[in-house]
Amino acid sequence: MQWRRVAVAQMADLLPGRGLTVSLNEERECTLFLHEGRCYAVGSLCPHQNAPLCNGYLEEGEILVCRRHGFRFSLQTGECLTIGGYGIPTYPVEIEEASGTIFVSFLDDLS
Ligand code: FES
Repeated sequence: MQWRRVAVAQMADLLPGRGLTVSLNEERECTLFLHEGRCYAVGSLCPHQNAPLCNGYLEEGEILVCRRHGFRFSLQTGECLTIGGYGIPTYPVEIEEASGTIFVSFLDDLS
């Protein structure tokens, strides 16, 4: 298992407050959100009942709300703010200024 950094999208692909799900490797995805000019990468499925988090919406304070039952998650830490024990993964994001390319780093368990 080792860290990998992959180009997943362009900043121009993101709309404020709208999730975009992208592949990290053959088995894993993450969902990107643009919030107040900053890009976040989190797990793509809600840990409650696996609703796609790309359908969620954002609230003030960098909070992602799952649209199915309303569980709330911190975009920064992945902590579930509704019920303990339901956190989502978060991934480091880097933006290449010149090209607008979004890079996400993750621990690749396929390597
Ligand atoms: S599936 Fe997300 S809160 Fe229930």
